[in-house]
Amino acid sequence: QYPKHVQLKEVGPRDGLQNENVFIDTDDKIKWINMLSESGVQEIEYSSFVHPKWIPALADARDVGRRIKRNPNVSYSALVPNLKGLDHALETGIDAASVFMSASETHNQKNINKSIDETYPVLKKVIQEAKTAGKFVTGYISTVFDCPYEGRISPEQAVAVCDQLFDYGVDSISLGDTIGSAVPSQVEALLDHVLSRYSQEKIIMHFHDTRGMAIANIMTSIQYGITRFDSSVGGLGGCPYAKGAAGNVATNDVLYLLHGLGIETGIKEEKIQQAALYIQDKLGKRLPSKALAYQLSN
Ligand code: HMG
Ligand code: MG
Repeated sequence: QYPKHVQLKEVGPRDGLQNENVFIDTDDKIKWINMLSESGVQEIEYSSFVHPKWIPALADARDVGRRIKRNPNVSYSALVPNLKGLDHALETGIDAASVFMSASETHNQKNINKSIDETYPVLKKVIQEAKTAGKFVTGYISTVFDCPYEGRISPEQAVAVCDQLFDYGVDSISLGDTIGSAVPSQVEALLDHVLSRYSQEKIIMHFHDTRGMAIANIMTSIQYGITRFDSSVGGLGGCPYAKGAAGNVATNDVLYLLHGLGIETGIKEEKIQQAALYIQDKLGKRLPSKALAYQLSN
């Protein structure tokens, strides 16, 4: 009853690096993204066109975007908060734009310095302009299960943001467990709501693995017919505006699960392992992926 194919978006170069204190040299980032481009992954989020003061680790987004070797089989996206970011991303080169906001008022304010109601008109323009430019648009919604400041977020709050973003024209929505707190019953409650309104192909799940629940939540999502997930090499990552947010679920761990279930991804595990080792070495610390640690010990 499992799907034949699941599509992963590699968000390590964006979500993974944005929270690191170490600035990875631009040439090293490019080399690393080029390795990812040859792994068989179909989507890569290569950077963020946000204010460099807010996310210094990705201040070289333009340089990275201009100099990576584009594989025609890969869709390259970047995070854009507003029209200025979109303009920079379009000049640099993107196949897809990722807009973002939170289901929780306080997290939205801390992350992008606006209330939810102030954010909608900004994103509406960005989405429309990106669509006019012929780009795919994904809307990330953060804190769909829990907010580090406000606690539990109801499925209705998350669905209200989905409704607005779909109404503005996003092609898909990525639902973010920003602080990696959800358990499968929360995933079920949210997907019961979301999938009563939107089809599975339009929904992506974005789990952080702060408490080790991401694989259980992915399994639950698969049982709901979800076939698209965000992940990062080695489990790199976090969110600088969500206290205690650890990395994304590790691409290595998700591949172990999916391939073990007989689900195709088109991604070669050894290529992801090589890319994880490369960035681990540059960061000078071990990445949290368990599949990676096991592979290295054997
Ligand atoms: P602001 O200070 O309110 O912006 O920041 P502003 O419009 O008032 O402009 C202030 C200055 O910023 C101006 O420059 C603008 O030109 C400049 P000045 O006149 O002072 O010299 N500016 C920019 N510069 C470069 N690129 C831009 C840009 N926009 C304005 N795009 C803003 C608002 C949204 C820009 C800021 O809050 C920001 O950059 N936030 C980024 C936050 C962020 O990146 N968070 C992490 C990503 S979200 C995430 O990780 C969650 C996710 O993974 C899903 C999940 O896990 O849940 C997606
Ligand atoms: Mg994230």
